[in-house]
Amino acid sequence: RRPVRVLGLETSCDDTAAAIVTGDGNILAETNVHQHKVHEEHGGIVPLLAADRHLQKIPLVVRETLEKAEMRMEDVDAVAVTRGPGLPASLVVGLAAGKTLAAVHAKPLIGVHHMEAHALMARMGAEQKVQFPYLCLLISGGHTLSLVVHDVNHHSLIGQTRDESIGVAFDKVAREIELPWIDAQVGGGPGAALEQMAREGNAARFPMPMPMNQSTTARDPGFSFSGIMSHVARMREQRAFDHTCRQDQADLAAAFQQTAAKHLQKKAALALAHAADALNTRVTCMVASGGVASNQAVRQSLSALARRHSLPLICPPPRLCTDNGVMIAWAGIERLRRGLLDPYDVDFIQRWPL
Ligand code: KG4
Ligand code: ZN
Repeated sequence: RRPVRVLGLETSCDDTAAAIVTGDGNILAETNVHQHKVHEEHGGIVPLLAADRHLQKIPLVVRETLEKAEMRMEDVDAVAVTRGPGLPASLVVGLAAGKTLAAVHAKPLIGVHHMEAHALMARMGAEQKVQFPYLCLLISGGHTLSLVVHDVNHHSLIGQTRDESIGVAFDKVAREIELPWIDAQVGGGPGAALEQMAREGNAARFPMPMPMNQSTTARDPGFSFSGIMSHVARMREQRAFDHTCRQDQADLAAAFQQTAAKHLQKKAALALAHAADALNTRVTCMVASGGVASNQAVRQSLSALARRHSLPLICPPPRLCTDNGVMIAWAGIERLRRGLLDPYDVDFIQRWPL
């Protein structure tokens, strides 16, 4: 028998995305319409604009995905759709589309937790390599957290950011330093531009405060980036560096990157300890996922930690770490295998703890 094929839909934030994925981890087709331009001029995501755009695009995104795969709805075995967490008006659009498609074609419907989908992505086509339970670090523009994935539908959230995400911190610091090619078409955005600049820098020249270093916060597995961000902003105000001098820019980029990577490493170490002691769980590997996981300095500090614990570190390709339809389809496959289906009148969940 051929492997199952699942259509996945994602509309929880500012991407209207669909994909068809097979049970053996092949992507038959994917389509992703970004809304970045729509929200850029407002300086952030405008919920009703986002919903409006999803409403406009979702039929075309589904149609295009089926065409790319040369399939009809009859050839799809199940429909998976993001149920939450996310912007209510946006979730509703994808959910209505997914429910209707599934109901009309009498296909199983699977409501997917967006974060679980991020966390399960690393297993797509690699279930032997990424076995439960594992520690997952989601480090992106939208998420900064650590969790133990015990199984499908069974997770323990360990730490999350108290303020900004790590991706936003990289982006804001890159802007503060005024990196020259920041608006150029650098894949990975400002964070990747900062990483390039940091290669030429000396991190020791601008020592930065380590976040959550007080006795009350040092053992807390959460994350915090607002302190380093305001430190850089203050340095800029006080003209402690010259943003037109390439060496200053590089040294500052290196210092920030080193501090952020070290902070992640410390908190990942606490997460491992928490898994072992409080959760009584021996994880089989560490997964680092999200745009920031493509940063080499971040990878090196996490792989040093993994080595100390004799664990493999697995980083899925960056393009699978962003919000997309593939991760929803894959999470749908994992849930389908365990019989975790939903009725056609399933509702969205705006705030949905893991
Ligand atoms: O996972 P992702 O692509 O999407 C969202 O979260 O939406 O993460 C994007 C974030 C951005 O903040 C970007 O600057 C950051 O990941 N990023 C990086 C690198 N590549 C992307 N940060 C540091 N170093 C990189 N090489
Ligand atoms: Zn996401």
